[in-house]
Amino acid sequence: MKLLIDDANLDAIKDIVSLYPVDGVTTNPTILSKAGENPKDRLLKIRDLIGSDLDLHCQVVASKKEEIIAQARKLVKLLGANTYIKIPASGEGFKAIEELTKEGIKITATGIYSPLQAFLAAKAGAKYLAPYVNRIDNLGYDGLAVTRKIQNILEANDFEAQILAASFKNSNQVLDLAERGVGALTLSPDVFKGLVNDRNVDFAIKTFEDDFGRILGEGQTFSDIL
Ligand code: E4P
Repeated sequence: MKLLIDDANLDAIKDIVSLYPVDGVTTNPTILSKAGENPKDRLLKIRDLIGSDLDLHCQVVASKKEEIIAQARKLVKLLGANTYIKIPASGEGFKAIEELTKEGIKITATGIYSPLQAFLAAKAGAKYLAPYVNRIDNLGYDGLAVTRKIQNILEANDFEAQILAASFKNSNQVLDLAERGVGALTLSPDVFKGLVNDRNVDFAIKTFEDDFGRILGEGQTFSDIL
């Protein structure tokens, strides 16, 4: 399972990459608007920061097929290998996904609120499908149940597409999908940090250090004797 950072703040990305095993970054127009910089410049900075091996997902801002396709081609050219173009899974998006996939451009179908939306996007050739777990919950439905249904559809049809679940607000939502083994999750820096946020863990680490210090002297570690 891949883990991605859902953010465009350079300091936050740097911080999470330095602490956690991370496979890439996802953005959307709202996330980019919070960065307060020309989106092209910010995307290039993110690519530079994470390097060419990690995945970068960038969303088109267009609703007509031809414009979606034109933006997708330019964004891939700008951001290089391991770039995924996010296209909303509706209307003209499906046809754009089909065409761009034939050109070898990797697509993440986004804005997914229902299993049938995911089914159509997978059939069109998307590499990833992004159900919005928490936003679905906020509508009074069950975001995790929708995501599990999508996973069943992918397995039953032997689709190549994988889930890239998005819009998380807590660790419990993450745990459920980690258990299910979906393809990828994208998490905000706050949700990332909340995954392991336990005073018992801090206490255990401190106790080990204190106990070791009793052998050689306070604060001494293997670094002092190896
Ligand atoms: C990712 O594809 C989505 O754009 C994003 O995760 C939505 O998250 P939000 O519901 O926290 O805005």
